[in-house]
Parts: sequence; C-alpha cells; structure tokens
Amino acid sequence: MQINSVAELDVADGIATLTLDSAPVNALSAAVRDGLDQGFRAAIADETVQGIVLICAGRTFIAGADISEFDKAPTGAPLHDVLALIEGSPKPVVAAIHGTALGGGLETALVCDYRVATPSAKLGLPEVALGLLPGAGGTQRLPRVVGAEAALEMMAIGKPVRAKDALAMGLVDAITSEDALHADAVAFLKTKLDAPRTRIRDRTDKIAGQDPALFDAFRAKHARAFKGFRAPENIIKAVEAAVTLPFDQGMKREAELFWELFRSRESAAQRYFFFAERQTAKVPDLAADLPEIPVKRVGVIGAGTMGGGIAMNFLNVGLPVTIVEQAQDALDRGVATIRRNYQGSVDKGRMSAEQFEQRMALLTPSLDFEVLGEVDLIIEAVFEKLSLKQEIFARLDKVAKADAILATNTSFLDVDAIAAATGRPESVVGMHFFSPANVMKLLEVVRGAETDPQVVAAAMAIGRRIGKVAVLSRVCDGFIANRMMAPRMAAAQALILEGPLPWEVDRVMLDYGFPMGPFAMLDLVGLDVIGWDAATSSSSSVVEVLCEMGRWGQKKGGGYYDYDDKRRAAPSPIAEQLIRDFAAKTGVTQRAFSDEEIVARLLYPVVNEGARILEEGVAIRASDVDVALVYGYGWPVFTGGPLFWADGVGLAKIADALEEMGHAPSPLLRALAEQGKPLHQYRSAAPAARVIE
Ligand code: 3HC
Ligand code: NAI
Repeated sequence: MQINSVAELDVADGIATLTLDSAPVNALSAAVRDGLDQGFRAAIADETVQGIVLICAGRTFIAGADISEFDKAPTGAPLHDVLALIEGSPKPVVAAIHGTALGGGLETALVCDYRVATPSAKLGLPEVALGLLPGAGGTQRLPRVVGAEAALEMMAIGKPVRAKDALAMGLVDAITSEDALHADAVAFLKTKLDAPRTRIRDRTDKIAGQDPALFDAFRAKHARAFKGFRAPENIIKAVEAAVTLPFDQGMKREAELFWELFRSRESAAQRYFFFAERQTAKVPDLAADLPEIPVKRVGVIGAGTMGGGIAMNFLNVGLPVTIVEQAQDALDRGVATIRRNYQGSVDKGRMSAEQFEQRMALLTPSLDFEVLGEVDLIIEAVFEKLSLKQEIFARLDKVAKADAILATNTSFLDVDAIAAATGRPESVVGMHFFSPANVMKLLEVVRGAETDPQVVAAAMAIGRRIGKVAVLSRVCDGFIANRMMAPRMAAAQALILEGPLPWEVDRVMLDYGFPMGPFAMLDLVGLDVIGWDAATSSSSSVVEVLCEMGRWGQKKGGGYYDYDDKRRAAPSPIAEQLIRDFAAKTGVTQRAFSDEEIVARLLYPVVNEGARILEEGVAIRASDVDVALVYGYGWPVFTGGPLFWADGVGLAKIADALEEMGHAPSPLLRALAEQGKPLHQYRSAAPAARVIE
C-alpha cells in the first residue's frame, strides 16, 4: 500500500514493512515524517500485523534531518511526535539499516525496539559537524544504550561507528547479510515477537552510578579540538543531563541546549559550509553527461615534498603511480619518504602490513621520462620555475598519450604559459595540492584559457576519487587560497612595526580559530623559502634582516621565535629588538592595538581580495572561496570561511575600515554593502577567461 509519495507499507505473514524511498539520502523531510507517521499508524491499526520493519530504499537508511529545511517554516508531522508514536508502538519494531543511519536517522532507529544492520552500514550522530546536537532524543537515548563515555565520543567528535563496532557496543542487535537485509530483519523480528520489551528511555543500566569526573576529563582531553566551537560543550551538558536527570527532564534540557545552538552564528556557519562543500562539485558550464576520461594509471614528475604526497593519494585508492625524477638520489629519497610515511601509519595501527605492501607495490620509481607514455594523468611537481616547467611540458607533449591529462601543481605560475609549451593546451590543467599533499583536503583545479571542459571535469572527478574537495579556479597569481592569504601576511608584517609583536599577532589569530599564526607559520615553512635571495638582499625589511642573520625559522633554531631542541617556541628578544629598531628607523609610531583591531587589520584585506577574486571570475561563487580557505588554510569552519564571516561583521563596516587602512575596497564589496546583499551568496557572472596579463 502506497502511504504517500515516499513511503510504502506492505504486510506479509504478520510482519509489516514500511519502506521509505526519498532520494538521495532519505533525509527526514516533511514528506518522510508524514510517511512515517501515517505508515506507523496504519501498521499499528492493522490487526494482522504483529511486528514492524522500518527499512529504506536507495543508497542509505535515513541520513538525518533534512538540513535544507532548517531555515524554512516547519511543515509536516513534527519529528518528536513521530518518534513518540514509533516508541509507543504496541507492536515490536526493528530498524533495518544499510548505508548510513545518521543524526535524526539514528535517533529514529533508537526509538525502535531493535536495530539490525548490514556489515557495511555505519551509524552516527554527526550533528556536531553542523554546530548542533542530536535534538530528537539522541543525547538522552544513546548514553542509555552505549554508556556516557562512548556516547560523548560519538556525539562530540561526530565520527560514525561501523556495524561491527556498533554490535560490540550494543547499539545494534544483529548484523545481517549484505544483500538480504529485509529478509534477515524479518527473520530476526519473528524471533522477538513474544520477547519482553524495554524501551531505551526506561533503561538505566548503562548510566547508573556514572562518575561525574568523566565530563571534565572529556572536556580537558579535547580542549584543543573543541576551541571556538559551541556544540561540543552543549553535547557534554546534554549527556550530563542524561545521567543525572529523569528521561523527560533530560529531553527538556536537550531541547534548550539544541535551540541555543540552532540560533548560534557558529551553527549557521557550519550549516552553510555543509552545502558550500557540496556545491563545489557543481560547475555550471560542465554538463553532467560529459564523456568521462578514465584514469587508470597516474604519473608524477618530481619526488620532492609535493610529488611524494601527491603520489600517495593515488596509491591510497589503489591506482598505480609511476614517479619520475631527474637523479637517482632524489628518486631514492622521495620513495624512502613515501615508505616512511606509510610505515608511520602501520606503527600507529592505522594501516595493516598487507596494505603497506599493496601500496608500495603500486609505485614504480623511474628515471626514464618515456614511461610516462603509458599513463592517463600526469602531474608535474618539479621546482617552481616557469622555464623548467615549460621544458617539461614540451617533452610531455612528445611522450604522453593523445588523450592524457597533463596537470601542473604550480603554486603561482601561469598555467596558460605552461600549456603554451605544448601543442595541446586543451589537455593542460592545474591541479594545485596543498602541503602535506596526502593530508590536506583542498585541491584547486585550475582551468586554463584553453583547457577542455572534459579535462576540467576529469580533474575535479579524480580529486573527489582521492578524497579531496576540488575547488575550481581560473588562472591568476596564487589562484584562490594562496592569493587570498597573501594580504594577511603583508598586513601582519606591516603591523608589527606599529606595536603588536609577532607573538601577540599570532595569539589573536589563534583566538580567532586559525591552527597557527602567520609568524609561527613563516618560521615553520622557512623565512628563506618565501622569496628571499641572498644575492639581492638589502636589509630593507625585518624578514630580510632575519634571513641575513641566518634566522630562517625552526630549522635554524630561530626566526621570529627562538626554538629549543624540541622545537618549542619562545618569543625572541633578538627579533623583538630588530622590530623595534626598524620601527624607530621608519618613524612609525607604536601604539597598543585591541584584538579586534588586529583581526580587522589582518583579515579585512583578505575579504577584499576575496571580493576581487569574485569580480574577476577567478572563483565561480563565493562559497567556493570559503571552502578553499577552510580546507587549504585551516580557516575556522565555525566562521563559515572569510566571506560568510564578512557578512556577519557587515560589509559596509569592512569597506569603511579598509579605506581607513589605506586599502581601496573592491567595487563589488562596496556595491553589495550599498545594496544590503550578502557576499557569501554571490555568484560570478560569465567567468573571465584569464586574469593574468
Ligand atoms: N539533509 C538534506 N540533504 C542532505 C542531507 C541531509 N541530512 N544529507 C545529504 N544531503 C544531500 C547533499 O546535500 C547532497 O545533495 P546534492 O547531491 O544535491 O549535492 C546529497 O544529499 C548527497 O550527499 P553527499 O554528496 O554528501 O553524498 P555522500 O554519499 O558522499 O554522503 C552522507 C552521504 C554520508 C549521508 C552525507 O551526505 C552526510 O554526512 N550527510 C549529513 C548527515 C548529517 O549531518 N545528519 C544529521 C543531520 S542534523 C539532524 O539530524 C538533527 C537531528 O538531530 C534533529
Ligand atoms: P621540491 O624541491 O621538494 O621537489 C621538487 C622535485 O622535483 C625535486 O625532487 C627535484 O629533484 C625534482 N625535479 C626537478 N627537476 C626535475 C626534472 N627535470 N625531472 C624530474 N624531476 C625533477 O619542491 P616542492 O615543494 O615539492 O614543490 C614542487 C612544486 O609544487 C612547485 O611547483 C611548488 O610551487 C608546488 N607546490 C609546493 C607546495 C609546498 O608547500 N611545498 C604547495 C603547493 C604546490
């Protein structure tokens, strides 16, 4: 019997099966809640029914509340009422789980009597990633099933558990076969029709006598990871309520804590970011039915810092990689680094010895350029020098297969100038990874003036295949993320002459939520590699003098900071004196700056650059810029990224402040401020073909 557009009820042999079918992920939209409501009512009313199976069609069990409905007026049956109906069912209910039971989906499963799951299923309460807490009883029911500590881990960290672990925790009652979930669920339920029933809400066995010290210990253990986020603290409070209050009072507390989060700027930012991340894959002029370019073998040129990390991405997903170097020692070093990195994972228990062998076996080191003729995708990661890259691409043109994708990992060079060295610029694309390339989630796909749409689409697709978030950029100096962050570095360098010292500036950036301040970052990367040249150094800036003094950063025991043998940083009196001398020499008056002023000085110019990037069509939409900064530079996700954050600050305020600081606000920023329109929703008109001249 069709219940509504997304729910169907079938009764066979005394068992009712309610099937939800709402693509893509069976989220709890109004239609799904109505389907549950009416479906359960019908099953309960049917006298022939002795038990009920709740199952989903498509790729997954319910993946949560429908996030796209969050900011709209509520319609349909309220989730709490639906869950109360299921929990109060006079007939036993089993949730049959495949894919992922997440958020409100798992909360739905927790009002059922039983949960069975396929071996590949995952269960979790990941609301924390949206700046929320499980608001449909999850914070009160999960601790009653798995205990407070495991519940804290699942909700405050938000990582789903696999079916086998869920079984061990008591979260699922049985694992079914992979392909016969429904039949196995029915068989399971039939063995339980006469069994005594205890609702999870009435259980106390896992929470009785909980030592209250757990909560502060948990807070302390994760203090660093939780910094700046609101949701983890509210989740901890909700679990405290679960172990100290009766169920109904705990539910009230959960609701208060949920709504507090729901109204917060942090959650709005994280919800925005959830969709922003998924938007990146949607490129208006790339038709979904573009023929795919299959990538079965990959070549990497250069086995240095980036080449090795890039190669690992492909080995990790089972793609064979040929890595080519110019000299045996460089090749050996590169391969040894890959081996060492994998060995580190084995030592930490994150990889089996077998996986280690499999990955290394997929790697073919070579000094022979000709072998690149066999691969489908070639990524060049040699030194950042245009003439060298052009020479390499001219050689590639002769060697590579006709339909091979020729990619460069350049950070700043003109992809079109590199493409011009070949007779097939349409096959050339930028694939800009971030260091460490096997870890950082961002991949900028740089579309040259002549890059074929099919090649762009293939580069985006391969990025997703290796677990990256691929963001599309046009050619310009630094592409999106590096170009955006350059003004922050320039502002930081200028600011230290006016009063705030590097460690104060760094502290303000840490408080804002960055993982590292600009000066600590410079010291880590090495002051010498940021464009310093001994031959032309003229003692005209603090950074130049530090370089001339040999204070190149961590690797030399000192830069802006001094480092001990364990690389622990302390403010450097030498650097401080140098800064003060420079300030005196340049006649800048020093004064105290508030934290807010420091944030404005460093980050408003970043927002301005973002607006320019949009004006020029370098990025196709503002949310792509936010995603690039969060995944490329650790911009705190609870701000939503620079452009979402800017709207919260106020565009007019930023534009005025920029003028006061002596920066020209971008016309787009001014225009949006005047029209009262948000920057984070901005989409570029027809993107410019290129913006380098
Ligand atoms: N609501 C609305 N849309 C959702 C959604 C949700 N909960 N989850 C996924 N979608 C959409 C995505 O936006 C995407 O749409 P698109 O194709 O138009 O871009 C589509 O479903 C597919 O999603 P993915 O690209 O992410 O597909 P994957 O297969 O990679 O991942 C997933 C599937 C693991 C389910 C992943 O989408 C996910 O983690 N979703 C979010 C789960 C979540 O956070 N649930 C909790 C929601 S809050 C809640 O339940 C509150 C409650 O406590 C009251
Ligand atoms: P690196 O110096 O660590 O490695 C470059 C490697 O290329 C060296 O091992 C060198 O022997 C090899 N090489 C040079 N000429 C070659 C040739 N003709 N044939 C084969 N191999 C050759 O440099 P790194 O840091 O890995 O950078 C590589 C590229 O990646 C540069 O374009 C850089 O701008 C870019 N990049 C670097 C990032 C970083 O953080 N280091 C981040 C993103 C991009």
